[in-house]
Amino acid sequence: MDSEIERRKRDHVMNSLRQDSQYDLTSWLEFVIPIHNALPEIDYDKIDTSVVFFGKNFSYPIYISGMTGGFNDAYKINSELANIAEKYNIPLGLGSIRAMLKNPTLKYTYDVKRGKDIFMIANIGGVQLKEYSNRTILDAMDSIEADAIAIHLNPAQELIQKEGDLNWNGVMDRIVELADDTRVIVKEVGAGLSYYVIDRLKDSKVAYYDVAGAGGTSWTKIEYLRNPDAPKGFENWGIPTALALLMNRNKARLLASGGIRNGVDGFKTILLGAELFGMAKPFLEMALGKSNNILDLIIQQFKGAMFLTGSKDINTIRKVDYVILDPLKSAYEQIRSSILKR
Ligand SMILES: Cc1cc2nc3c(=O)[nH]c(=O)nc-3n(C[C@H](O)[C@H](O)[C@H](O)COP(=O)(O)O)c2cc1C
Repeated sequence: MDSEIERRKRDHVMNSLRQDSQYDLTSWLEFVIPIHNALPEIDYDKIDTSVVFFGKNFSYPIYISGMTGGFNDAYKINSELANIAEKYNIPLGLGSIRAMLKNPTLKYTYDVKRGKDIFMIANIGGVQLKEYSNRTILDAMDSIEADAIAIHLNPAQELIQKEGDLNWNGVMDRIVELADDTRVIVKEVGAGLSYYVIDRLKDSKVAYYDVAGAGGTSWTKIEYLRNPDAPKGFENWGIPTALALLMNRNKARLLASGGIRNGVDGFKTILLGAELFGMAKPFLEMALGKSNNILDLIIQQFKGAMFLTGSKDINTIRKVDYVILDPLKSAYEQIRSSILKR
């Protein structure tokens, strides 16, 4: 018999594939316009898309956002994602390892590295960190050969989730403690990290922040599907990915995700200061054979945008000029003074 947590994990995967799991709000990346360069003076075939992340070289500034684990089909999904990560030399994120911490027989659903030369990022909820010691988490990471761990902050999801945990006291201290002992990424799950969060953690050893903004998968919408009685109104709650990037620019090492569905938008996140960009739903569809290999297309689009801005490598992208249109521009200006005060 499947446990409640296994059922929930399966529901999450199935519901996330539905069109009504996505925000009506966009990522706002459409309001970022890179300045076209009609004289790029570079050779497309010599463009270098490689990037360094946690001191390692990867072929593209793209990663697989953490998604699943904890039920039988999750093993197949994670295995397929591991194959993609190996083939393209990009980092792989797993879903929350809480299911295996609760039930060690589910370890196999995360244990997909098995000697493969891939960089694998385990995952756990910030609010769940209070239940486990660092030792327990580090042992679990070791047992699946994880190289780092992403801590997800998902208060909006927990608010709507039937079994949601709403006592967030002490979460920050546990993040700081875990970051003292291992490589930590802090991420949202689609509602966006604000400058407030990054500021609170500025003295910690957190290595990267994935802003995981609004515009793609909406975790409140997914939880409403499982809990129709929850108070409506939060379907589109969150900070669009482009705004989350802008408000955190130069504050920390940033990753971008949330609603990135093509390589041009991925390029724009790098322009706004992200070091890599991640996608969840597109990789899930790929792993399940529900879409053709869209990663090749995303890479072509990304390289195309590099070519058309004369960017020979990832660092040069940061020198490209761009304009910011309303409403992104005015939203950023409205919060700029608060950001500067911090
Ligand atoms: C099926 C599924 C399961 C997910 N599970 C997790 C999780 O366990 N931990 C986590 O940090 N994020 C999880 N996410 C959130 C993603 O990492 C990502 O932040 C979010 O989906 C936004 O990206 P997208 O718009 O490209 O889907 C999950 C996403 C999907 C689609």
